[in-house]
Amino acid sequence: MASSSAAARPAGVYPTKVRIVEVGPRDGLQNESAEFSTQTRIELVRRLLDCGLKAVEAGSFVSPRWVPKMADTGILLEHFDRSDRDHLAVLVPNLRGLEAAIESGATEIAVFGAASETFSAKNINCSIAESLERFRPVCSRALAEGLRVRGYVSCVLGCPYEGDVDPDRVADVSEQLIKMGCYEVSLGDTIGTGTPLKAVALIRRVTEVVPVTQLAVHFHDTYGQALVNIFAALGEGISVIDSSVAGLGGCPYAPGAAGNVATEDVIYMLDGMGIQHGIDFDRLLDTAGFILNALDKQPVSRVSTARLAKAKS
Ligand code: HMG
Ligand code: MG
Repeated sequence: MASSSAAARPAGVYPTKVRIVEVGPRDGLQNESAEFSTQTRIELVRRLLDCGLKAVEAGSFVSPRWVPKMADTGILLEHFDRSDRDHLAVLVPNLRGLEAAIESGATEIAVFGAASETFSAKNINCSIAESLERFRPVCSRALAEGLRVRGYVSCVLGCPYEGDVDPDRVADVSEQLIKMGCYEVSLGDTIGTGTPLKAVALIRRVTEVVPVTQLAVHFHDTYGQALVNIFAALGEGISVIDSSVAGLGGCPYAPGAAGNVATEDVIYMLDGMGIQHGIDFDRLLDTAGFILNALDKQPVSRVSTARLAKAKS
């Protein structure tokens, strides 16, 4: 445990338990400039599962010309047996990606849309309306094949190209994703410009059309606001948090976006609040160390940095 102050958890609407969706092997590595092998990705996913994570986004079946680092996702999936694959998800932009995901034994896919027209065009080369039309048959076919389908909405608190984003647009895209069969929609602060009160206002707007139990939050930490935004979201009843081990990541089509909030920083905060998560904190820190070492990088996570400093002292 990172802290023993569970008794100090404020009374209120904070959930007693959260589900962490670990996105490091996908959102983290898709944008990584360092070279790494398929074996490193496989080892990372294996270690994350060994930490007790029940939801790991392992990769994506997208155009290798658009995101070359995810090109070996099929090979990666084939290294895991069915019981492990039950805990893995992959991003899919179209029917072609879905077919490849099914062939590789995926059990869960995520479709990814946006609340900004320019980001949608830059990321998946179509308008928001076209993307939703594209996702509809992907969702139906995936559900018919027995796969779970998650949805993303990017740029919910700001767009790198358009600036402010209308919460009504976020609510509308989220509602449509739920209606086409996504069991959950993850609200992506793609460029990490969100702040807590804006995050709360957004969640309140989206929960007018999607139950809070079907929402997750996905904060990038570009401006150092991710953890406080998560704290605010927990206060709104959100109980699913996307995060990335060692704070890896960014988005290839969001210039300047930093990594997702570090999973170890989230776990430290949850432990302090007495919120259950089911993750072995020490193993997670070792896993952060493993991937940082493989990429020859220094940690950006505060918890990993503190741990390194402690080890050296
Ligand atoms: P396009 O160029 O409009 O599509 O791209 P296309 O159908 O004309 O195909 C172009 C080429 O890609 C063709 O190959 C296709 O065969 C191939 P070519 O003939 O040129 O050699 N292709 C594919 N290859 C493999 N798998 C596929 C596939 N589909 C087509 N599924 C497309 C449209 C959607 C394919 C492209 O824009 C794309 O792949 N985009 C992916 C972008 C991406 O992965 N972005 C990062 C993930 S989103 C994110 O990070 C945000 C998130 O974290 C939340 C947040 O933080 O907000 C989720
Ligand atoms: Mg992201």
